[in-house]
Amino acid sequence: MKALMMRKPGEADVENAADAVAGDGEVLLKVRRVGLCGSDLNSFRGKNPMVSYPRVPGHEVAATILETSAWHPHLVAGMNVTLSPYTQCGKCAACRRGRANACQFNETLGVQRDGALAEFLAVPAGKIYTANLSLEELCFVEPLTVGFHAVARGRVSAEDTVAIIGCGGVGLGAVAASGFRGARTIGVDVDDAKLALARKAGATDAINSARGDLHDALQELTDGRGPDVIVEAIGLPQTFRAAVEEVAFTGRVVYIGYAKEPVAYETRLFVQKELDILGSRNALPEDFSAVIAMLEAGRFPVDEAVSHVVALSDAPEILQAWSANPAEFSKIMVSLD
Ligand SMILES: NC(=O)c1ccc[n+]([C@@H]2O[C@H](COP(=O)([O-])OP(=O)(O)OC[C@H]3O[C@@H](n4cnc5c(N)ncnc54)[C@H](O)[C@@H]3O)[C@@H](O)[C@H]2O)c1
Ligand SMILES: [Zn+2]
Ligand SMILES: [Zn+2]
Repeated sequence: MKALMMRKPGEADVENAADAVAGDGEVLLKVRRVGLCGSDLNSFRGKNPMVSYPRVPGHEVAATILETSAWHPHLVAGMNVTLSPYTQCGKCAACRRGRANACQFNETLGVQRDGALAEFLAVPAGKIYTANLSLEELCFVEPLTVGFHAVARGRVSAEDTVAIIGCGGVGLGAVAASGFRGARTIGVDVDDAKLALARKAGATDAINSARGDLHDALQELTDGRGPDVIVEAIGLPQTFRAAVEEVAFTGRVVYIGYAKEPVAYETRLFVQKELDILGSRNALPEDFSAVIAMLEAGRFPVDEAVSHVVALSDAPEILQAWSANPAEFSKIMVSLD
């Protein structure tokens, strides 16, 4: 079968790879669409510390079932499905507490093991999700789950005002999740195009923090109290700090972004505001189910969120172009039809 292989940073080619074979309890899939996100770009650029080479990338997948077993009667050949790209060891502290999304020994498809940018893929049946969705929507499930998990961590309800700082690929999922829960949802970004998409995904308000003062804008929208929940989805020291500074007294702060450098805090605010400060990593099965329900309700602008669709043979070229001009791309999908 053909697969996209990253031999080393900056080098990707379509190569012949050994055919995928379904083992015990696995389902054989014909891969149809694979979405690319920031972590794939980092892998291509050699800036993802978790990836080793050579590596087939790809963890956002829409596929058609080719072969299944009688043990999984709900999975039928010909069905279009998506999947969870994570693994769990079952033994670490996170797994033992039922929080396998934060498994210490997780191996994400396309990162620590070969991924989905290949014609065929064998996946454990338990990782597969069926849904009444188009291929593009199925391919959008996984990238939205990360933000859905963050909003679940923040215990967001319709009573809350929620600010999401950073409305890129990951933050957009948090916007959609917060809106879907009925919360007043404020998207914050420095890019008007991202904010326009955030509004279509469920943001009730939008703040361009490059054009005005974030503090003043948030105070104005919350009668001087600050948002009940702030989700940080960028990973910059200043936005890590802004989350704690701007959140309401007794509010919740949820961090999704990975900061690339240490962050200095006025820790007095943790105590004085009696904050819940939460990390959020990957996603749980219930987050996949929630995203699927939201997409089935037609609440997310999938067509507008996809900026490029290319064939597998053009994937190496678009990776180069994306790496050279990241601002010109949002969601790239590779079609293997
Ligand atoms: N916790 C997890 O499980 C998990 C999973 C995937 C990614 N991440 C992390 O999430 C973060 C976001 O990833 P992404 O793929 O959405 O990135 P992205 O580049 O697509 O999005 C970042 C967004 O932030 C905006 N932005 C940049 N600087 C800003 C500022 N000062 N103020 C307001 N907005 C600003 C950008 O315009 C962009 O829209 C990264 O740190 C990534 O490593 C975490
Ligand atoms: Zn992704
Ligand atoms: Zn584990």
